[in-house]
Amino acid sequence: MKILVIGDIVGSPGRDALSSYISKKRKEYDFIIVNGENSASGKGITGKIADEFFCWGIDVITSGNHIWDKREIYTYIEGNERLLRPHNYPQGVPGKGYTIQKSSKGEKVAVVSLQGRIFMNPIDCPFKLGKELIEEIRKETKFIIIDFHAEATSEKIALGKYLDGKISLLYGTHTHVQTADEKILPEGTGYITDVGMTGSDSGVIGTQIECVLPRFLTGMPQKFEIAEGNVRLNGISVVLDDETGDCVSIERINIGDAELKY
Ligand SMILES: [Fe+2]
Ligand SMILES: [Fe+2]
Repeated sequence: MKILVIGDIVGSPGRDALSSYISKKRKEYDFIIVNGENSASGKGITGKIADEFFCWGIDVITSGNHIWDKREIYTYIEGNERLLRPHNYPQGVPGKGYTIQKSSKGEKVAVVSLQGRIFMNPIDCPFKLGKELIEEIRKETKFIIIDFHAEATSEKIALGKYLDGKISLLYGTHTHVQTADEKILPEGTGYITDVGMTGSDSGVIGTQIECVLPRFLTGMPQKFEIAEGNVRLNGISVVLDDETGDCVSIERINIGDAELKY
């Protein structure tokens, strides 16, 4: 099974890049996942944008800490199980942190969203809740993919190793910076610390430098606007063994404006 994962889509530059790439690549893949937490002007996602992504052929949209930025999503996420919020938010929070959907070949694919706790708002333990959830999901399918939305590289590596052999793939999101450590762990789980982002590379992780610099220079809050131009699309292309669910190959995707246009 061939799977495409695209990192955090940032605003309209990210959405345009995604649309262009997916229109050319949809048929090559059996299952496509994107992280949409920054797709609405860098802050959250709207129902209209989520519907558009599904129309383009995205199977599941994951998210993270920015999922709550647009208030309208509180109700949308209750009615669409293909848009995920991190599973380890406290009980009673709107939406769900995992879903099981069919690939184009008809296999059941589970996608789980988890969020880290290092340098992030404290929520429930991703290790404990993640492991318990996977034990349940494994009764239904061996194809299990986790988007671990976390800041610290150590936390991501630790969760990858903790779940090695129990899931097909664990990839990181949230930092918006692609790491070059893609690998297959000893027990067969595909792993990368961060898949990166899809948006303008002109600013600072998708935001205009004119908005970001004053915050660093003065320590005072600033209104953030998304950057434009010099767009990059980041993600991974992954092959899973149809019999075992193990990862067979994992390759980084990191392409710019020029390639996106063709
Ligand atoms: Fe993000
Ligand atoms: Fe995030």
